[in-house]
Order: sequence, then structure tokens, then C-alpha cells
Amino acid sequence: MSNKTWDKKYSTEEYIYTKTANRFVIEYCESLTGKTAIDLAGGEGRNSIWLAKQGFLVENIDFSQVALDKFLKFAEEEKLGSKVLATLAGATKFSSQLDQVDLGVIAYLQIPQRKLAKAIKRLSQKIKPGGHLFGVWHSRDNLTGGFGGPRDPKVLPDLDSIGKALSGLGFEIVELKNRDGQIQTREGLKPSITLVLLAKRVSN
Ligand SMILES: C[S@@+](CC[C@H](N)C(=O)[O-])C[C@H]1O[C@@H](n2cnc3c(N)ncnc32)[C@H](O)[C@@H]1O
Repeated sequence: MSNKTWDKKYSTEEYIYTKTANRFVIEYCESLTGKTAIDLAGGEGRNSIWLAKQGFLVENIDFSQVALDKFLKFAEEEKLGSKVLATLAGATKFSSQLDQVDLGVIAYLQIPQRKLAKAIKRLSQKIKPGGHLFGVWHSRDNLTGGFGGPRDPKVLPDLDSIGKALSGLGFEIVELKNRDGQIQTREGLKPSITLVLLAKRVSN
């Protein structure tokens, strides 16, 4: 989807991804310490704001200006204006305001595999040795074994594609797995499969 399509989708008062941080971001990142973080494709900022509350100075990089405006409004409401930065840029080639951060987060950036690999590579270059990369996606296995999320296999990574995207970038995988969860549908709660990645930068 283009940035114009995302701008249109975000053009409502409502926070379409809510103001509550994703449960996997909380589960995997709450024990991570550090001063700075980049939330790549952070959208309206639910995860960025939670990270700022954890004490990080957070840069949300997204190609939707409408999302970033909502993010900055959310930060002001939470009195976190001085703890956040917003950067309008594409995920594969961005220049960031922060460099060599302690944590890079990439949540539900469901884009074609080659582009996603480039985005992961670009984000990985911004993470300092010893720092962490956390990613979460609707998994390709969700197509056959779960509900919700995009149904186009091109934008659904699997364990193999994420493993390949990370290889040679100087990261050690702490965890790369499909997690079983549940999603609310009109027919009630149904299973959903979420792919999570936690990796630590070990070399330059
Ligand atoms: C499903 S939303 C997730 C937002 C946020 N990470 C969250 O979990 O609430 C995907 C986000 O990716 C952004 N996005 C999609 N393709 C992008 C690209 N090529 N470059 C930068 N941002 C992109 C969209 O604008 C949108 O905010």
C-alpha cells in the first residue's frame, strides 16, 4: 500500500491500531534497557509511546504524515513531547535523527519480502553493538492455520525469510518463532499465528 493509501486510512479521529502497545512488544521489550530506540513504521505510535514511558528517547519513522501527526498529538497528551521524534521516510532507505540506538522495533510492517529484508537491513545498521532488534508480524503460517491479518502471502514473512533477512547483519538470534494467539472475529475468538523476532547485535 502506498503512503497516500495509509494517509487515507489514518484520516480519522480514531486510533485505528488503538493507543495500547502491542502485547508482544511489551512482552519482549520490557526487560530491555537503553536510552534510545527507533520504531520503524511506528504509525500512530502506540508502541513508541509505550517505549517512551519505559524511558527511551524514541524516533518513530513512518511514511504516513497523517500517522505521524496523530503520534505527535498522542505524545503531547501523554506529556512525552520531549521523549519522541517523528521522521517522515520510507522504511528501506531512511535517514534517522538518532543513530546507533539501543533498540530497533519493527511491528506489523507487512510489505513484500525483498522490501522487508531491505528495511530490516537498514534498521539493523542503526543499532549499536549490544543493542536489540525486535520484530513482530502476521506470520505466513497464519494463512493456513489462523485468522486475521493480510491474506496476501507476498506480505507475510515466515521463519525462513526473516532468518535469511537477518543473516550476515551481525546479529545473534535470541528468539525467532511463531506464537499462537487468538483474534476476535464475528464468529468469536479464533486462532492467530504471530511471528516474533528478538535479536542482539554482536558485531559491526
Ligand atoms: C499495520 S501498521 C503498524 C503500525 C505500528 N507499527 C503499530 O504496530 O501500531 C503499518 C505501518 O507501516 C507503515 N508503512 C508501510 N509501508 C511503509 C514503508 N514502505 N515505509 C515506511 N512506512 C511504511 C504504514 O504507514 C503504517 O503506519
